[in-house]
Amino acid sequence: MPRIPSILIHQAASVSPFLPSILRGTRDLSSARTELRWITEEFQQNRTAFLANLARLPYFPAVLQRPSRIRYRPQWKWTKRLEYLRLQPDPARIVLRQCARLRERHYPLQYILGTQPFHLLDVVVRPGVLIPRPETEELTSHLAGLLETHHPEKLNVIDLCAGTGCIGLLLSCLVKGTTTIGVDISKSALACMAENKTKHEDLLSIAGSEYRPVYHDVLSTVPKTVAFINSQLGPGKADLIVSNPPYISSAGFNKDTSRSVRLWEPRLALVPDGVDENVFYDRIIDVATEVHANGIVFEVGSWDQATSIQRLMGKKGWKSSVWPDFHGKGRTVVAFREGGWEWLQSAPS
Ligand SMILES: C[S@@+](CC[C@H](N)C(=O)[O-])C[C@H]1O[C@@H](n2cnc3c(N)ncnc32)[C@H](O)[C@@H]1O
Repeated sequence: MPRIPSILIHQAASVSPFLPSILRGTRDLSSARTELRWITEEFQQNRTAFLANLARLPYFPAVLQRPSRIRYRPQWKWTKRLEYLRLQPDPARIVLRQCARLRERHYPLQYILGTQPFHLLDVVVRPGVLIPRPETEELTSHLAGLLETHHPEKLNVIDLCAGTGCIGLLLSCLVKGTTTIGVDISKSALACMAENKTKHEDLLSIAGSEYRPVYHDVLSTVPKTVAFINSQLGPGKADLIVSNPPYISSAGFNKDTSRSVRLWEPRLALVPDGVDENVFYDRIIDVATEVHANGIVFEVGSWDQATSIQRLMGKKGWKSSVWPDFHGKGRTVVAFREGGWEWLQSAPS
């Protein structure tokens, strides 16, 4: 990684004493300034929530002062940390310094701010849960548009490997009368999904939709997952299966992901360890076939992976198509049955 020119560090320091640390994380001054502004605004506008979020983060004690008579203990629960943080004589300064140091260590901004905008949602993100990506937002909003146009009846969706719940929750909020089951194996993800459901209850109720986070291991056997889906929605009632599963190989994780992702985002969300990187797709196609779903929508990593998944779909009797993302990269594979949901082929323009 190229070193940052010292002139840039000086420029940053002349704007704010916190900016050089943020710059070491972002590596460009304009992004660093924007991040500092967002952090400052978030702290000023939502102080209570911001402090509570900060108290949960892993490097919490790194920059705390010793002004209070109580001695800080690293093993404290976050609620006690929060109490302590409130006792600091100048919390704004402490908060900014702490956030800047976290960014210097490539800690994701979204975990610091506690949310990520996702179309009309403001999705809660917590450490241990994958941060929703713009490609996922693009595919979900396009999919919602297609569903609204072509499927006016009540819709049942299963979002397998749901993480924060962003995909399924947005579909339920945008497409009227939709029931979505968000499925994950991670306790942190399920807690985050529940928070997101509560936070967006108003939108769900306006849409007359439902969202349910539920635990299930997608890599358990196909009959078990089929039984699970039938128990949640009723036999033969699942219309659509969407999934952005872990799909990066171990080699790809070490070589192609950014340092911030490698250090701080959950590996469980990205790499199907010890097995082929297409294992989730293979399993989910079998499940979709067994539950007689009308469509499948997958996020994938590349054109090559899209082609492999299309081959798998073809072998199992599904027609398929690829949607390129806004960079022209093949990132979404959709599958449907002959004489069924052909409209799923229509890619974002
Ligand atoms: C790539 S993330 C996707 C999260 C979210 N859908 C999104 O697009 O932002 C994959 C998710 O799969 C979950 N996961 C990993 N293994 C799983 C399994 N065996 N069964 C169910 N979920 C699993 C992870 O916890 C993680 O939340």
